Amino acid sequence: MLKVEGVSKVYGGERRGFFGRAPEVAALRDVSLALRRGESFGLVGESGSGKTTLTRCLLRLEEVSAGRILFEGEDIARLSPAGLRALRARVQIVFQDPYASLNPRLSIAEIVTEPMEIHRARLGLDARARRDRAAELLERVGLGPQHLGRFPHEFSGGQRQRIGIARALATAPDLLILDEPTSALDVSVQAQVLNLLHDLQQQMGLTYFFISHDLGVIRYVCDRVALIYRGQLVEEGEAEALFRAPRSDYARSLLAAMPDPDPDLSPFR
Ligand SMILES: Nc1ncnc2c1ncn2[C@@H]1O[C@H](COP(=O)(O)OP(=O)(O)OP(=O)(O)O)[C@@H](O)[C@H]1O
Ligand SMILES: [Mg+2]
Repeated sequence: MLKVEGVSKVYGGERRGFFGRAPEVAALRDVSLALRRGESFGLVGESGSGKTTLTRCLLRLEEVSAGRILFEGEDIARLSPAGLRALRARVQIVFQDPYASLNPRLSIAEIVTEPMEIHRARLGLDARARRDRAAELLERVGLGPQHLGRFPHEFSGGQRQRIGIARALATAPDLLILDEPTSALDVSVQAQVLNLLHDLQQQMGLTYFFISHDLGVIRYVCDRVALIYRGQLVEEGEAEALFRAPRSDYARSLLAAMPDPDPDLSPFR
C-alpha cells in the first residue's frame, strides 16, 4: 500500500544574510520500507532520529530531498491537487499530545466533523449526516453523542486521545499514522487506548504506521518493526524475530534497556 524508496531529507542550507547558510541537518538518509495493507508497522527510534520527519514526508507536508514515496503505486510527489486531497483523506494522523492537538475553542462536534467538511466533496455527506457520523465515531471510541456539545478541557488525557482518534477516522482512512499516540498518557490509560486501537483495526481493516520510542508498546502492537537511528534504518523485520534475535547492536542496546514486557498480554497477538 505504501512504499518508501531511498528517501533522504535534508533541512536547512537556505541563505542567511550575506555570507551564511543555515546549517544542514540530514534528518533522513536513504530510508526504504514498505507497508502492507492491514498490518501494523512499527517505527522505533530515539528522539531526533527522524520519525516525525518521515511522517511529514508521507503526507507531503515536507518535500523529500531524494528518493520517492509511493501510495497505492503512485508517486506522491507527482499527485495532482485532487490526488493530494485524496491522499490526505486516506492517510490520517493521530498526534502524540492530546492536549495540544485539539483546538480548545471548538466543540467536540466541530472537531470531529471538521475533516468531513474539508473532504466533503469526496465523502458526500451533508451537515446532518456529518453530525450523525460524528456521534457514531464517538461511540466507536468509547464516548457518546452526549459529548458532542462539550469542549476539550472537559476531558481527561485518555478521553482526548479517543477524540483525536475519532477525528482521524472521520474521513474513513485506509492508513492511520500514530505518532507516539500513548506516550503522553498514564500507563493504565495507555493500555486502554492500545486496546481501542486494536479493536478499531480489526473492525475497520485499518493499516497502522505506529511510531514510538517505547519498544514495549511496539512489541504490544506491531507485526513488523523498523529501527531508525540518526535518520538511517538499522534493522527491519518481523517484530517477533527482532525481539527474539536482534541483529544490530542498536536493537540489542534498546532491548537491554527495556523493562520486562509481557507480550502475551497483548490484544494484538
Ligand atoms: N523544520 C525543521 N528544520 C530543521 N531541522 C529540523 C526540522 N524538523 C526536524 N528537524 C531536525 O531533524 C531531525 C529529526 O527530527 P524529527 O522531529 O523527525 O525526530 P523524531 O524522531 O520525531 O524525534 P522525537 O522522538 O523527539 O519526536 C532532528 O535533528 C531535528 O532537529
Ligand atoms: Mg517526533
